[in-house]
Amino acid sequence: MSAVTTPETMRQLLVRRDDIHRASVVTSPLPSAASLAEGQVLLRVDRFGFSANNITYVALGDQMHYWNFFPATDGWGCIPVWGFADVVASRRNDMPIGERFFGYWPMASHAIVQPGHVSSHGFTDASPHRVSLPAVYNQYQRTAGDLSYDATTEDAYMILRPLFVTSFMLDDFLADARWFGAEEILISSASSKTAYALAFLLSQHAKQRPQMVGLTSRANLAFVEGLGCYDRVIAYDDVTSLPVTGPVVYADFSGNAALRAAIHHHFGTKVAYSAAVGLTHWETLAPAGDLPGAKPTLFFAPTQIKRRAVEWGPGGIEQRAGDAWRAFLVPLQSWMTISRLHGGDAALALYHSMLNGNATPDCGYVIQL
Ligand SMILES: NC(=O)c1ccc[n+]([C@@H]2O[C@H](COP(=O)([O-])OP(=O)(O)OC[C@H]3O[C@@H](n4cnc5c(N)ncnc54)[C@H](OP(=O)(O)O)[C@@H]3O)[C@@H](O)[C@H]2O)c1
Repeated sequence: MSAVTTPETMRQLLVRRDDIHRASVVTSPLPSAASLAEGQVLLRVDRFGFSANNITYVALGDQMHYWNFFPATDGWGCIPVWGFADVVASRRNDMPIGERFFGYWPMASHAIVQPGHVSSHGFTDASPHRVSLPAVYNQYQRTAGDLSYDATTEDAYMILRPLFVTSFMLDDFLADARWFGAEEILISSASSKTAYALAFLLSQHAKQRPQMVGLTSRANLAFVEGLGCYDRVIAYDDVTSLPVTGPVVYADFSGNAALRAAIHHHFGTKVAYSAAVGLTHWETLAPAGDLPGAKPTLFFAPTQIKRRAVEWGPGGIEQRAGDAWRAFLVPLQSWMTISRLHGGDAALALYHSMLNGNATPDCGYVIQL
């Protein structure tokens, strides 16, 4: 066992689970290499992306068990984030110091994992508290030897790749269902990166697809129009002015209960499918209740991933999603600015800004704690 020089403290951004407006960066002594248990590995979380998706993890922390990935002290929660981390101390021969991995980390400067299965592609964290959690979050990719890894696009990868994969699976799910017969797809929080990824992927179906209507807040209307990927863009307030003609699908990234009710009542039985994908408007969370049209159904990407992993075989998802990802990166460069933030104060400021809906949609944030 050996170790390289590391900072002496570990920093974690923690959120009060009973009052998510309270957050704090706490420091603690960095575990020494000698204190690692047999088979454990300590990583420096180098950088991670941060978007409304992470706020959704917070808002649904208890309900969807997001707090269970990285247990914190009583009453506090550590937000999961997607990013890159480097091994700084290891009690495994097959995970040497200096190796870099992509995956789901605590919003912290460091993480300790207990790898179970390790392969040339990566490892699975088999820490006892993670075994019952969805497997997709417990898998880490090794960058060394990964032919699709590109160090120059790491920032975009951290910010967008997990969001893109969700949209890739949703696009696949909808296309496979022949759009549920819909002539239009209404997409809320159209300014969000995940919604944009869905719109991009839908646009690749050329003529064999429904029209896309982007729904957004009035403040983001011009931004969404500028993205140029939706066939039509309207403000939330105007949704009931849409003509009711053929069947529609609602892809809901906002989770806004009042908006969902307005759409279902306006389109009635013409709502052929209603996918609950996101919760950007987290303060409006409320049960769907009885609504006209198709019953709102939670879209959980890991479920579709599991299905396609079997149907497409080993590497099938990676190859298809990888090809689509490379195409997606091209238009992205025309509108997304990457902002790199360092340290606890900057991370806390971004957390509060994102929680309160003040972050601008044209920016992708990368943080180092
Ligand atoms: N089901 C899944 O597996 C899955 C996977 C990935 C992402 N998602 C979900 O997709 C959603 C979008 O995530 P993202 O990371 O792509 O978002 P993002 O790019 O950070 O989205 C920013 C947009 O979200 C809206 N927004 C953000 N915070 C808000 C607030 N506090 N109040 C009101 N509106 C707010 C605004 O859009 P508007 O003005 O246009 O409403 C804002 O422009 C999240 O809820 C995320 O959890 C789900």
